[in-house]
Parts: sequence; structure tokens; C-alpha cells
Amino acid sequence: MEATQAYIAEHKERFLQELIELLKIPSVSADPAYAGDVRKTAEEVAARLKSAGADNVEICETNGYPIVYADKIMSADLPTVLVYGHYDVQPADPIELWTSPPFDPVVKETEIHPEGAVFARGACDDKGQMFMHVKAFEAMMQSDELPCNVKFMIEGEEEVGSEHLGEFVRANIEKLKADVILISDTGMLANDVPSITTGLRGLSYVEVEVTGPNRDLHSGLYGGCVANPINILCDMIASLHDENNQITVPGFYDKVVRLSDEERAEMARAPFSKEAYCKALDIEDVYGEKGYSTMERGSIRPTLDVNGMWGGYTGEGAKTVIPSKAYAKISMRLVPDQIPDEITKLFKDHFESIAPKGTRVKVTPHHVGEPAVTPINFEGYQAASIAYEKTFGKKPIPVRSGGSIPIVAMFEKVLGLKTILMGFGLDSDAIHSPNEHYGLFNYYRGIETIPHFFDSYANLMKQ
Ligand code: BES
Ligand code: MN
Ligand code: MN
Repeated sequence: MEATQAYIAEHKERFLQELIELLKIPSVSADPAYAGDVRKTAEEVAARLKSAGADNVEICETNGYPIVYADKIMSADLPTVLVYGHYDVQPADPIELWTSPPFDPVVKETEIHPEGAVFARGACDDKGQMFMHVKAFEAMMQSDELPCNVKFMIEGEEEVGSEHLGEFVRANIEKLKADVILISDTGMLANDVPSITTGLRGLSYVEVEVTGPNRDLHSGLYGGCVANPINILCDMIASLHDENNQITVPGFYDKVVRLSDEERAEMARAPFSKEAYCKALDIEDVYGEKGYSTMERGSIRPTLDVNGMWGGYTGEGAKTVIPSKAYAKISMRLVPDQIPDEITKLFKDHFESIAPKGTRVKVTPHHVGEPAVTPINFEGYQAASIAYEKTFGKKPIPVRSGGSIPIVAMFEKVLGLKTILMGFGLDSDAIHSPNEHYGLFNYYRGIETIPHFFDSYANLMKQ
């Protein structure tokens, strides 16, 4: 991979400029106002894959946003790596909290990224990380060193639940045939503590609506006499955790796989500083389920959180009103072997049962996603481990992440393939938040590490 690495070193500046161009297109999949830009981004990704040397570059239409497919088949004897990523991004709001416009990328230095980081929505999640694969591929192609067959599947609906990806995968099983799936859409512990993600949480996302009186009421005339839906919703939500911060939905923990003491001890070896963690978030202390460490609470344990809540008067000044309705969006992060649809039902039944007389409750399920664990005892993991060791000079630590990439479980079911999660982001990169950024160190290190993965994987598969 020497020629490939030399090519990367020589073209770094251009690789960054091209990422910046991609980040300028606001591919916000959640907001229909950006539909044209999401499509434009798909076209740009396709064009980049083509100029990098891919064959069969296609913009595959779905009933939602298109999936970009491309491949380079070197030989039937070589293993095939299927690269997945997403070109859509989260909405940028609250926009006023950005220190530079979200779709006008700039490179700025930060404490953690003294060499600079590119600030833009999608810089890390996932345009920056997805584009590392395009550039690593280009480098291997231009250096005549591509050691595996490669297929790309880059979607535009990840941030809204990958609604049409399952259908596409089921309809294209032959086309997507591969030996392993490679994804860079997660993070690592720190720039000097490389890690490989070996698990993702699942998700059940619901919206709840509490209705009281049939119209907003004067809070002086009716206050104290009728159920106020916002007060009630607060009570109901508060009752979802007990004094140990365990979730009170009956049956919620029934299928949770409990880790052995050995596995927990192994996890506890990953470096974690509570002090630094609190400092970075400007909080006095951490908070969570009794009996578990912060690392465990954020990865191997399920959670329930309100993501947003509204109702009544929220405008300027004061308006004396008892609202007719109150709403909340609630996410539950799930772990093996919880079944998302089952959890949704348990939640719905419980939440409806605790509504007091004088109120009506409606629970509307949004998307669900299955948790996933990826093994560490197969060629894919070994190849990734060797690749990180080559570029970081250290063996990566396997860690479970708290985030969700629901398609990982689907790929395993439909394609029978295991996934390697080679993420290069940091928790401090502010994905989904204002001022999202991606370190130039991380971007370049990712581009350098990927070819080593291909090389090691090809070697291990030969044996
Ligand atoms: N890339 C993230 C998931 C992620 C980030 C996993 C960091 C591990 C570490 C992905 O784009 C994402 O945001 N997923 C959503 C779920 C999806 C169904 C909207 C999530 O985790 O909230
Ligand atoms: Mn992502
Ligand atoms: Mn995301």
C-alpha cells in the first residue's frame, strides 16, 4: 500500500476541498424544502465515485431519496467489500447557535483538533466519513493497488429511518453480494485511543399526545378544576423512571442480555475520565441508572428519553391559559435481545394505562431499529484491527456504542453479512448538534487506514 499512501499524502489538500464542496449542499432528508439539494448530493456522490474509478455507477431510484450504487470488480477470486454510508444530514437547527453557517464549511482549530477541523452539518455524520471511502478507493485505484472487489451503497434517508433501504436490499441481493460490510459512521474513543465499534443500540421512537378539555381555557376560571394536559404529561413522564433510574414500563427489561462480570471488567478497561466528561458538557455530575458506569449506561443498557415536549403558550410574555393538548417525542434506546416492536407495544399499553380520568392519551409509533453486536473473531475484525495498528501504532479497543444504525441488523438478516464499524469520529464532534465538525486528523487518518483494511482483509481471506 506504499503507492496508495504516497498518493494520499500528495492529494490531501484536494481531498479536503472536495469534501468542502460536498458539505456545501444542504442534504437535509427530514425537511422537504431541501428535496432538490438531497438529489443534487446523490448526483455529486455518483460523479465522485465515477471519477475515482468506479464502474456501474448508478443513481437507484426508490420511493424516497435515491441510493447511489457503484462497484469495481477486479476478479471473481478476490473477496468483495460492500461499503455503506449516507449522504443525507440532520437539520441544522437551532441555526443561531452555529458560530459559522452550517452549509458554508470552514476549517477552525479547536482544543481537541489543534491541526484544524472542518465545521459544517454532515462534516462527520456522515459525509466526511463516507467520503473517506471514496478517496481511499481513488487512491488505491490510481496506484493500481486495489486488493479486493468493492461495492458502494450510499443512501440518502439514514437520518429519517432508512425507510426504503430494506426494499432496495431485498430486491438486489445478487447485486449486493459481498463478503463483508464496511461502514464508517461511528466514532472512536480519542485520537490517541483508537477503537472499533462492536455494538449499536436499537431504537423505538414514539410520539405521545395528551388531550384534556376540548379547547384552551382561561387558567383563572378553570385552573384547579380540570386536568391540565401538560401537568399530567409531566407526571406521566416522570413516573417512567423509578428511584434507581430504572424504566418502569412493565416487561421492558425482560429480554435484556446481561453481560458477565468478565465482560463488564473488560469494558471497564477502556479509558474514561468522569472529570473530563463533565467538564466537556459543563455539568457537575453524571446521572443515570444505579449500579452501572457511565460507559455501561451509554452502551449496554437500554434508556428512555424525552427528545422534545410542547403544548400551551410558548410565545413572548405571559398568556394565562390551560392548554387543551400536550405532546412529547420519546426515544427508547434498546440493547440485545430487546425487540423494538415489542417494546413499542409495551410502552403504548403502559402509557395509555396510566392516563388519569379526564384525559385521553394517544401514542403514535415512529421508526424502530434493531440493536446489533458485531463479532471480533472473524477476518473482518482482524483486518480492521491490523489496519488501525498500522496507522495509529496501537491496537484498537473494541467498544459498544450507544448510537443506532438500524440497517446493520437488516444487512445481517437479508444479506447474511457481518459488518465492520470503522468509525473515526469523536463524541465531541457535535454530530446532530450545532457546530458539528470533523477533525482533519480524523479525516486523513481514516483515508489512510481504509486501504490497510482492504489489504489485510484480502490477505486474511486468501488463507
Ligand atoms: N451515525 C449515526 C449513528 C451513530 C453515531 C452511531 C455515533 C454510533 C456513534 C447515525 O447517523 C444516526 O444518527 N442514527 C440515528 C438513528 C436513526 C434511525 C435516525 C440515531 O442514532 O439517533
Ligand atoms: Mn450517521
Ligand atoms: Mn446521524
